[in-house]
Amino acid sequence: MIEGKGYGKCILFNEHFVVYNIPSIVSAIGDYTLATVEATESGGVRLIDDRPATPGYKEGKLEHQKDSLRRILEAMGIDSDENLKITLGGTLYCASGVGASAASCTAIARALNRYFDMGMDDDQINEIAYEGEKGYHGTPSGVDNAASTYGGLIWFVRGEENTFEPISLKEPVEIVMGNTGKVANTKAAVAGVRERKEKYPEKYEEIFEKARKLAHDAREALEAQDTKKVGELMNRNHSLLQDIEVSDEDLDMLVETARSAGAVGAKMTGGGLGGYMVALTPGKKLQEAVAKAMEDKGFRVLRTRIGV
Ligand code: PMV
Repeated sequence: MIEGKGYGKCILFNEHFVVYNIPSIVSAIGDYTLATVEATESGGVRLIDDRPATPGYKEGKLEHQKDSLRRILEAMGIDSDENLKITLGGTLYCASGVGASAASCTAIARALNRYFDMGMDDDQINEIAYEGEKGYHGTPSGVDNAASTYGGLIWFVRGEENTFEPISLKEPVEIVMGNTGKVANTKAAVAGVRERKEKYPEKYEEIFEKARKLAHDAREALEAQDTKKVGELMNRNHSLLQDIEVSDEDLDMLVETARSAGAVGAKMTGGGLGGYMVALTPGKKLQEAVAKAMEDKGFRVLRTRIGV
């Protein structure tokens, strides 16, 4: 059977601020989506989605998924009448904020590339995955599919030409991602920030400047593998995200739970208003303690790593 893999992602610094061209830092995580492709007798291209997911997630994204697959096939020059079965699986638990759509686009592109022996390199796979992401997001920034395709940590700045720079981490670090179980509406969260920013320009300008400075400090701390400093900056980043009102009660509670259980830092991740938070927990022992504290409160967690 022919397979292709795409990693999930975690925004470590500056979701939302990134929309306003402020640098952000994103990491691929150890969990991934796997696509397998096999020939069938009839029926054209069929997609079977066996990924583990938050209830309601797959149903809510079905139309987007169809559009995304159509775009991927078109970008790869594959006829939708080809008799193929694509099956999605893997370890990535799909919910808002882990880059599930990008991971699936990358996995599908890689698997089809192998199946048809197209010889595409990572840059081409990334471009195809970006096309697929348009089915979900309209105008994606491109950061999710980059993390999904290339792996590792990425310094990302949105601009007329987006900047992607790899950040080297000496070794992967354990994290716990806690899922609030609420399917978040990123579009609404982004629109809310815009509204408030227009209403309170001075206040927001001040917060945004802090976020800009924080991104540079975080890059330095990551490059020095100074996990304590990285954690401290994640805590500060969470406060800034609270200031722009994209966190919520569940996210704040999970962040507090993680910190109390010993996480060196914790913050919401992704669009907010539900979805995921992330706790930095170097070492398997700390990771387990923090994961357990959140699970004890009835929340589902992902034990994974950044910098893979
Ligand atoms: O919810 P996610 O993981 O797709 O992240 C959204 C990140 C935002 O900064 C809020 C929006 C964006 O387009 O960058």
